[in-house]
Amino acid sequence: MSRPAEPHLPSFAEPLHVGRPNIGDRDKLMARINQMLDNRWLTNRGPFVREFESKIAEYCQVKHAIAMCNGTIALEIAIRALGMTGEVIVPSFTFVATAHALQWQEITPVFCDVDPVTCTIDPARIEQLITPRTTGIIGVHLWGQACDIDAIDAIARRHDLKVLYDAAHALGCSYRGQVIGRFGDAEVLSFHATKFLNTFEGGAVLTNNDALAERIRLMQNFGFRGHDTVIDIGTNGKMAEICAVMGLTNLESIDEFVGANRRHHSQYRDGLAGIPGLRVRDYDPREQNNHQYVIVDVDAEVAGLTRDALVEQLQAQNVLCRRYFHPGCHRMEPYRSYFPNAGLLLPVTEALCERIFSLPTGTAVDDEDIGRVIGLVRDFTTRARRARHPATRVA
Ligand SMILES: Cc1ncc(COP(=O)(O)O)c(C=O)c1O
Repeated sequence: MSRPAEPHLPSFAEPLHVGRPNIGDRDKLMARINQMLDNRWLTNRGPFVREFESKIAEYCQVKHAIAMCNGTIALEIAIRALGMTGEVIVPSFTFVATAHALQWQEITPVFCDVDPVTCTIDPARIEQLITPRTTGIIGVHLWGQACDIDAIDAIARRHDLKVLYDAAHALGCSYRGQVIGRFGDAEVLSFHATKFLNTFEGGAVLTNNDALAERIRLMQNFGFRGHDTVIDIGTNGKMAEICAVMGLTNLESIDEFVGANRRHHSQYRDGLAGIPGLRVRDYDPREQNNHQYVIVDVDAEVAGLTRDALVEQLQAQNVLCRRYFHPGCHRMEPYRSYFPNAGLLLPVTEALCERIFSLPTGTAVDDEDIGRVIGLVRDFTTRARRARHPATRVA
């Protein structure tokens, strides 16, 4: 049980963050760092990056994994290598990097609404957004839940569009039993510190297409072929050796990370069950998920308080839960100014952005922390219901 909220003292002395990094075996990490220093090979596709790429490709059952300095650059390079131009259809209910990766290259993100159950891009709404300028679709496997890949592929085939998946959340997740990584023309992972598997900062493009992989490798290394021949424009998207060292070490602990996440997810689900108006979102039990995101949906009418009021009260207790994602990209600049009425076509996104938030999980929190967070949520929601119906006894 958490102690009752006191006005001045937060319930948690130290902030409890969402996305505190999962860190694998320190001794192995240090041994690899020493090896890297002995190698005197710090970047430019050294032995650790090559090993990491091959392990990620094997894990995701895909031919090519091209390690990158972060997920955003990986998206930008994949978009460019795929030849996307003009307009690309993308959900607004995502982290803003998905849209920025397009706009950064002066490609217009055309925001599509999402399915209310999976919260991923709604294929039923994609076709009405296609214009002569449309060159592609980017689906986001939000919280590791796969997009409706078959439906998206069928649309792409009908309209000759490229398909890229932002799989930043989806390492170790599946679609119809097949591990995410090989779908569409390419998929992009993020290994940011807050992600299920981190390389401090990092990302990767995954593809089964040899020619595309070669183009991506060129682009991530200034367009170099060989030591002094540049055959096209490129940038610097390379992953550093130290990042691969972290990634390789964390990969060895991946089962432990999923195990902790699963346990926490069920503890939250059971502990918050029965609170009117609150629901911990479940993952499809037929699919694999890394359970990195514990998403709570608040129905303010029933709960007696809004998502924002609940988040504010939890944050005052040092439970730094996050509104992932709020607001939708279409309400952020520059998109808000470009498309002031975009929300009219995004009713599901608009509603979700007001209802959901995520709770701390991962290996940095323990069962006792979670028990206390559950106690706080119960306490705040009970008080809110009492305040609304003072004459009613509230369980
Ligand atoms: C859905 C999504 N796409 C892209 C990114 C960008 O990845 P990175 O932070 O590695 O650049 C993130 C997270 O940061 C994300 O959550």
